[in-house]
Amino acid sequence: MTTIDTGLPLSRRQGWQKLLAHRTAIAPLDLSFLFGDDPFRADHMNASGAGLFFDYSKNRITKGTLELLLDLARECRLPDRIEQMFSGEKINPTENRAVLHVALRSSREDVFRVDGVNVVPDVHAVLDRMIRFSRRIRDGEWKGRTGSPIRNVVNVGIGGSDLGPVMAYEALRHYSARDMRFRFVSNIDPTDFHEATRDLDPAETLFIISSKTFTTLETMTNARTAREWIRHTLGEGAVGRHFVAVSTNTDEVRAFGIDPENMFGFWDWVGGRYSMDSAIGLSTLLAVGEEHFQTLLEGFREMDLHFRSTPLERNLPVLHGLLCVWEGTFLGSATRGVFPYDRYLKRLPAYLQQLTMESNGKHVSLDGTRVDYDTGPVFWGEPGTNGQHSFYQLIHQGTRIIPSDLIGFLHPLHPTGNHHDILIANLFAQAEALAFGRTEADLRKQGVPPSLIPHRICEGNRPTNVILAERLTPHTLGTLIAFYEHSVFTQGTLWNIDSFDQWGVELGKILAQKILPELTGDPAAPLTHDSSTNALIQRYRNARLSDR
Ligand code: F6P
Repeated sequence: MTTIDTGLPLSRRQGWQKLLAHRTAIAPLDLSFLFGDDPFRADHMNASGAGLFFDYSKNRITKGTLELLLDLARECRLPDRIEQMFSGEKINPTENRAVLHVALRSSREDVFRVDGVNVVPDVHAVLDRMIRFSRRIRDGEWKGRTGSPIRNVVNVGIGGSDLGPVMAYEALRHYSARDMRFRFVSNIDPTDFHEATRDLDPAETLFIISSKTFTTLETMTNARTAREWIRHTLGEGAVGRHFVAVSTNTDEVRAFGIDPENMFGFWDWVGGRYSMDSAIGLSTLLAVGEEHFQTLLEGFREMDLHFRSTPLERNLPVLHGLLCVWEGTFLGSATRGVFPYDRYLKRLPAYLQQLTMESNGKHVSLDGTRVDYDTGPVFWGEPGTNGQHSFYQLIHQGTRIIPSDLIGFLHPLHPTGNHHDILIANLFAQAEALAFGRTEADLRKQGVPPSLIPHRICEGNRPTNVILAERLTPHTLGTLIAFYEHSVFTQGTLWNIDSFDQWGVELGKILAQKILPELTGDPAAPLTHDSSTNALIQRYRNARLSDR
């Protein structure tokens, strides 16, 4: 296994000690004070790049905090680590893999090497095939078994093979082929398959079986159900016209009955949660067409270039990542919210949940020692204005601090009366209210009865980032996703963890394989789990018996 010299863990670095001391020193300074003290704070605590504007002035930081965080980033050799990623070094040591999702959005002239071989020609060969295929489907040239064109596309996948496709489809619906229907099946719960297909005509339906490994239990079970659904109505020979695969595993694809000619490949240097711009994005391409898909890739690429070439102090993903480390690890915020003020981004929080938590939910550093600091926080969110009428209460007045990203667009996709003005007024108002709150003095001035004053005080000092772009386009979506990908990498670098493996998901899968036959086999067979698991299995066995 290739090991990467990453030096000392965070807590043994000089920069860490300095930040701890600094944290104590600035603890009494809240955001009201910091803004009062420096009327130009917003002017120097923002950065722009790749079409995004990033206002980070409403974080609990001073200029000094930022300098110390940047020093720490240098001490953790962040610039070297960025170069290691872009040069295809095996920065995922526990799987002995390069991490090269940036090659997926390369231009044809770029060179990205893995083990000395330039992977860009392969990336473009797959992309070209995807584009040719999408033309045939969208133009109605590819016919199903009965001669009907394909009008329905069902992506079957889970985790990174689902969340990216769903999120991108929802985000780019405005740009999608409205005469086609796109559905996504991920859950093993049969309801998912049933609801996704109940009103579809099999003769017009294409299944994309998306699985990097082509062995994932949920995906393969759903894929077999889909195959039966097609065979049942269209006959044995229909599979070839109604199934394509996206995978790295040709043997399993062939064994399933899909001709490898109809398989779109990717590579082990693309992590599942970093794969939405690989062939895993086939449903996105079918939905939005090649021009928009290319623009999406350009957006990713622009942020990649920004990340690789912009000095740390003006580098958007670096700044965001450092602020996440500051809020989470140094100031102890256990969760982080992301609140897009755009309905089309309704699945962005779920997508970012996998990206951030599967990447940075790690308890050992790269050399295998237990970390003595907190790593990735719980990441969660919902579209903004809906959240305002439910959980924002806790963010404003609860006892826990929840740093948040508020994402908005300057121009609406559907200009309608004053809707967009109200939407954006809400975004800005929330950031302001969270930062500065409402004081006892304000409430007294307003004549609020004394008994109500404590209930109505908002303490403020709740940190937010505001991320603005011109308009939600495929390009913007690309830059936004790459922004978060590189922020995650920045955080993982500071924490000295492997952001690209996911061993934690393995144990549950193994245990499920053990429990499955115990649920369905001899109902009297002895059970050897803990007493809780035994009792739950027994309860399910009894329910199955009563179903007979
Ligand atoms: O179980 C987690 C995981 O391995 C994710 O990392 C991945 O995105 C997902 O399962 C799906 O895996 P596959 O694409 O191989 O079906």
